[in-house]
Amino acid sequence: MTHRQTSILKASPEAIHEAAQALRRGGLVAFPTETVYGLGADATSDAAVAAIFAAKNRPQFNPLIVHFADAERAAAAVAFDERARTMAQAFWPGPLTLVLPRRAANGISLLVSAGLDTVAVRVPSQPVARALLVEAGLPVAAPSANRSFSVSPTTASHVAADLDGRIDLILDDGPCRLGLESTVVDLSTKASTLLRLGGLPVEDIEAVIGPLAPPTGGRPKSPGMLSRHYAPGRPVRLNAAEAGPDEALLGFGPHVPGATLNLSPRGNLAEAAANFFAMMRELDRGEFAAIAVSPIPQTGLGRAINDRLNRAATPQGADDMNGISAP
Ligand code: TXA
Ligand code: MG
Repeated sequence: MTHRQTSILKASPEAIHEAAQALRRGGLVAFPTETVYGLGADATSDAAVAAIFAAKNRPQFNPLIVHFADAERAAAAVAFDERARTMAQAFWPGPLTLVLPRRAANGISLLVSAGLDTVAVRVPSQPVARALLVEAGLPVAAPSANRSFSVSPTTASHVAADLDGRIDLILDDGPCRLGLESTVVDLSTKASTLLRLGGLPVEDIEAVIGPLAPPTGGRPKSPGMLSRHYAPGRPVRLNAAEAGPDEALLGFGPHVPGATLNLSPRGNLAEAAANFFAMMRELDRGEFAAIAVSPIPQTGLGRAINDRLNRAATPQGADDMNGISAP
């Protein structure tokens, strides 16, 4: 892992221009999206994509999402059927990732797919992300801009804390609006399959294309689904009414006396989602032995928050990590 001088630039037309140039030179650029910050590189360059894995310490088998400026460019890289067109029409630009069959000779590095014959594609809505994708004129491979097995970054300073000295540039456009990663749906199979709960509620998707199939068992198709993927360092206790000795209490809603932090005192799930990763990071740095969390309603974005919490609460080593251990 070679040392890189990491500059942090406030988003501006000049900064976006510089970031686009860095991507075109094969550099590593962290940029804001409406979900979380991504660690971007030229998806057509094997060397640039390999550098993402090195910077993140990411297991090579974990495939990456490729970001496009618009649906037309995405449709040149993967095969769109009627379902995919309907989904793209309804939800792009936005927090939805579609897994679709790779088109032959589409120029996208095979490393992006980690051996699968599909590519995960997404068109983000965040204006700085869109301007960067247009100006770079490239498909941009971008996982969340954190070290592997750490929680996703929702501010530029989270990115710097994880990746300073390992990447070239961080474009800072403040906190991410949604704060949870995109929802991932596999459309490469007959049934539309939910691979990851995320910033687009499942209820919204099902209203457009009908019921989604749950992921099938066996080797996880989407490694983001490994039970302990989203992991703070401290143990996490769910559905807590109050904090135990030495525990921090992460509250939700108006009636949580003694909460160390509260995801949303007014009980709003969108606000809770936007605060979730930042508050987990904060409590994970504090003087606490463990993190207790109030119950979160299991609807809309609450399902995506509970999904992250359930993974964080899974004891280490309790699942099949395919031989990979956290760094
Ligand atoms: O919101 C997001 O999705 C953020 C921003 C930066 O776009 N990106 C993100 O990427 O969360 P990452 O790499 O942390 O998570 C990508 C998820 C992983 O669970 C990965 O396994 C899955 O998408 N994935 C990527 N390509 C896939 C493929 N071809 N088949 C199945 N799953 C795939
Ligand atoms: Mg990630």
